[in-house]
Amino acid sequence: MRRTVIAGNWKMNKTMMEAELFSDSINEYDLSNTKSDQIIFAPSYMLQSLNILLKSSRIEVGCQNMHQYESGAYTGEISADMIKSIGITSILIGHSERRQYFNESDKVVNEKLLLALEKNLTPYLCIGETLEERTAGIMRSTLKNQLVKACKNVKINMANKIIIAYEPIWAIGTGCVSNAEDANIACRNIREIVAEIFDLDIARNMIILYGGSVNPSNIDEILAQSEIDGVLVGGASLDVTSYISLLK
Ligand code: PGA
Repeated sequence: MRRTVIAGNWKMNKTMMEAELFSDSINEYDLSNTKSDQIIFAPSYMLQSLNILLKSSRIEVGCQNMHQYESGAYTGEISADMIKSIGITSILIGHSERRQYFNESDKVVNEKLLLALEKNLTPYLCIGETLEERTAGIMRSTLKNQLVKACKNVKINMANKIIIAYEPIWAIGTGCVSNAEDANIACRNIREIVAEIFDLDIARNMIILYGGSVNPSNIDEILAQSEIDGVLVGGASLDVTSYISLLK
């Protein structure tokens, strides 16, 4: 039985004061009967404080990015060991904004994934096609290419730690959510590709999230799809009322 995961991605948003206000509201709210696994990927400067602020909630705090090397002269970067040293155990890898604005190649994504697994972090691997790729009919091969390259040298006994976030690039931050059935088809494709790379058992148990303009009014339809196990939410995770409706 695959778990349902509701993940928020705050991207480069929220000052410490704003994060405190958000946490105060969360802590006032009784979310004990929500059944999903809950996580917020927060900016790295606040990870430790936010973890403390959300301690009494069920919300885990995850990191949005880390460097592919263990340590060294990489000014401004953050390492897997640093994240672990403050009690963070989940990491977003290969978000399309990292790929697009920070030139993160498939090779770098692969290096980060391997390091995250080696360090026993839970990687949330993001993949997704552009609108051009979708209209050209190469959605599946694009996803396959990204997955095969990202998972190069990943040992099969490590593969079950990976969570995949399918985020069609054209749906991120655009308000243009994928039709739920189309998202389901893409996630089924991903599961098939995972079976080709690893095996059927890994594929069947892999948690696959959908991301891209998810909000409280479309989440139910998305979660009702057979191949979609949860969501990765950017914009709609920033406002506490909206975030609570997503969890509910
Ligand atoms: P969005 O972002 O929900 O604002 O579209 C999703 C994401 O980038 O993870």
